[in-house]
Amino acid sequence: HGTSRINDKGHLEIGGCDATDLAAQFGTPLYIMDEALVRQRAREYVEAFKASGLPFQVAYASKAFSVMAMCAIAEQEGLSLDVVSDGELHTALQAGFPVERIHFHGNNKTPDEINMALETGIGCFVVDNFLELELLNALAGDKGKKVNILLRITPGVEAHTHDYISTGQQDSKFGFDLGNGAAREAIGKALTLSNLILLGVHSHIGSQIFEVEGFRMAVDKVAQFAVSIREELDLTFKVVNLGGGFGIRYVEGETPLPIHQYVQAITDAVKSNFSDANYPLPEIWVEPGRSMVGDAGTTLYTIGTSKNIPGVRKYIAVDGGMTDNPRPALYQSQYEAILANRGNAPLEETVSVAGKCCESGDMLIWDLELPQSESGDLLAVFCTGAYNYAMASNYNRIRRPAVVFVKDGEADLVVKRESLDNIVCNDVIPARLHKSPL
Ligand code: LLP
Repeated sequence: HGTSRINDKGHLEIGGCDATDLAAQFGTPLYIMDEALVRQRAREYVEAFKASGLPFQVAYASKAFSVMAMCAIAEQEGLSLDVVSDGELHTALQAGFPVERIHFHGNNKTPDEINMALETGIGCFVVDNFLELELLNALAGDKGKKVNILLRITPGVEAHTHDYISTGQQDSKFGFDLGNGAAREAIGKALTLSNLILLGVHSHIGSQIFEVEGFRMAVDKVAQFAVSIREELDLTFKVVNLGGGFGIRYVEGETPLPIHQYVQAITDAVKSNFSDANYPLPEIWVEPGRSMVGDAGTTLYTIGTSKNIPGVRKYIAVDGGMTDNPRPALYQSQYEAILANRGNAPLEETVSVAGKCCESGDMLIWDLELPQSESGDLLAVFCTGAYNYAMASNYNRIRRPAVVFVKDGEADLVVKRESLDNIVCNDVIPARLHKSPL
C-alpha cells in the first residue's frame, strides 16, 4: 500500500527509498514514514468534507504521532491540530503551527498547561469537567481573555474496540455524561462563566472502530441534546466535534472503511438529524489520529539472535521491541511483517518475533510466516505510524529510534536517534552520593 513495493533487487522500497539503504544510512531500529501516504490521508479527509458541503475542521490528533515535521505537514495540508499536553502544544508551537487552529484536550489539564495555552492564544479548549470550567474561566479572567470552548460530552455509545481505548460509554473517565444530566448542567454552568465562549460540544466514542453505526448513534444523541438545549436555553451549537477513532487495517481480515465513507456516514447523519429538527447545520470537526498516520509508518529492525525449541516454537529477536512498539504488549495488537532485504523469497518458516527487553511479554509478533531468516536480515513491521513513536519508552534504558520521512527517493531525518548521553542527560547524582576523595 502507499508507495511501498518490492524493487528489482528484491528489497522493500518506501517513498522511492530502498530499505536496506535506509538501514545503512540511519541505523535500526528505524521508523520510516511514507510522507505521500500521510498527505494522501489528510486530503481524503478534506476532500470528503468538502464534498459534504458542510463547514468543517479536520484536526489531526497529534497524540498518534507528535513530532515537529508532522505538525508542519498538518499545517501544509490545512488541518487543525488536537493537542493534549504542554509537550504536544510545545511541539506544535515550535513547528510554527497556527495557534488559532490548535484545540486543547485532556481530562486533567494542569493550571500551568492552561496558562500556557491561554498565553499562546490557542483556538479552542475542549473542556472535560466542572473543575476545568471554573479554572479556565478564572485563569482566562486573570489574563483579560475570553476563550472558545467545546464541552466534551460522553454520549453513552459503546464502540466495539479494545476496552482500554473505548471512551464513549458512560463508565469512562472522560467528559460530562449525557445520560445523567451532567452535560445539561455543564452547559448551564458554562453560560454563567463570562470568560468562556461556548461554541458547542465534543464527543469521541473510541479508537480503531470499523463500523459507522457507533458514529451515527453518537450524532443522533448529540443532535437530540442540541435540540433540547435549544428549546430550554435558546442556545444553538455552532460546532459539533465528533472526535476520531476511524479504524485502519493492521492485519489481513480487518476491514475498515475508506475514509470518505466514515466522513460521509457522519456528515449524512448530521444533515438528516439536524435538518429534521430544523436546526442550523453546525460546523463539523473531527480528530483523526491513527487513520492519518498509522499505515504510513513502517519500523525497520535488524534480526539478531534466534532460539529454536524443536516442536514448540522458533523465536527470532530484533534490536527493538516493546520500547518502540508497546502495542502488542498493551493491547495484544497484531502486525504484519516481511524480510525487507529479501522481499521476494518464499515463506519457509514460522517464527515469533521477540524484542530485546528483559521481559517475556516483549513480543512483537507471534507466528509470523517468513523466509528462512538469519542474523543480519532486516525485518520490516508495517502499520507502525500511530501510537508507536508516540508511546515509545526508554525501558531498560534503550534509546528511542530515529524517524525518517521518505518521499520521491529522498529520506529526511525528522527525529534523531537518541544518544547514550540523552539517556543520562536528566540524571543527577546528589553531592552526598559522590565518593569523597580519600
Ligand atoms: N480525539 C480524542 C478525544 C481522543 O481521545 C483520541 C484518541 C483521538 C481523537 C484520536 O483517535 P484515533 O483517530 O487515533 O483513533 N494508544 C491507543 C490509542 C488511544 C487513543 C486515545 N485517544 C492505541 O495504540 O491503540
